[in-house]
Amino acid sequence: MKTRKLNVLIGWGAAVLMMGSVAVEASPERDLKAFQTYFVEKFPLTKYSDFNNGVYSIDESFRQQWESIEEFPPYESFMEMGEEEWNKAFANGAGYASCFGEDVSAIRGFYPHWDSKREQVVTLEGEINRCRKDNGEKPLKWKVGTLAYLSAYIAYEGRGQKVDVVIPDDPKAVAAYEEGKRFYYAKRGQLNLACADCHVYQAGQHIRADLLSPSLGHTTGFPVFRAKWSGKSKSGDGMGTLHRRLGGCNKQVRAKPFKPQSEEYRNLEYFLSYMGNGMEWNGPSYRK
Ligand code: HEC
Repeated sequence: MKTRKLNVLIGWGAAVLMMGSVAVEASPERDLKAFQTYFVEKFPLTKYSDFNNGVYSIDESFRQQWESIEEFPPYESFMEMGEEEWNKAFANGAGYASCFGEDVSAIRGFYPHWDSKREQVVTLEGEINRCRKDNGEKPLKWKVGTLAYLSAYIAYEGRGQKVDVVIPDDPKAVAAYEEGKRFYYAKRGQLNLACADCHVYQAGQHIRADLLSPSLGHTTGFPVFRAKWSGKSKSGDGMGTLHRRLGGCNKQVRAKPFKPQSEEYRNLEYFLSYMGNGMEWNGPSYRK
């Protein structure tokens, strides 16, 4: 990163601290209101419902390229592979529907949520692998491949539903939300940057060749097909889950990424998804 850019970012540290101290007493609802208002005021030209399109909600020329790519979406064939996987029977004769129900369109909007019995945040991808294990199947890799395809199929079928993440009035659920929030505002890595430094305070600014997307609606479009991810030797085909992206963003600041589906990332997903309440689920998506 260029030093000049870095200085600008460090200058925002004070604002983060301020926001952090306000946030300590805030309730999730108040956090949500403040978060939404912040972005609406920062990007007055963006329609509220459009914030779930990442950088394409704030940059017209990126948007035009994206719209033309979306005419023949590169994630489509992976979605179809996800559908095939969904319809395959496990060795014991059961299938994914035995865990999730027959109505695929009802699944996406159900996650993430607080599971009061297991006392943890559960995610779509986490539950896919749980379903497999419960039925004697090997778990899938978390970040790429079949799990991402299945997630893409389920996301597609659930498109258009409103994000409606609930933080129940249960101290443990609220604590998980608070952990996710703390993660988001905590500085980390050799570059000492928080998620919020890039996606709240610097949203709309360029960092190297990238434009920083506003964090509102950040989880709605996953999984994504990412041009940058396609053609890489190990994970080759461009598809990736949300936790792949979270790990990538931790690496960008030269912090050690957490494991996909770790408690840290599930709580972070809980917080971030809650911040997207009211937007539409619109995955899978294309990203540069
Ligand atoms: C050094 C700046 C930086 C930091 C810090 C950072 N990110 Fe990112 N992030 C990026 C860039 C660059 C991209 C790709 C362009 C974009 O969509 O913003 C990105 C993309 C994303 C996306 C995908 C958005 C989309 O629409 O596809 C998510 C989600 C995300 N970041 C979450 C996080 C989270 C959570 C953290 C903290 C763990 C974080 N980021 C920290 C720079 C950063």
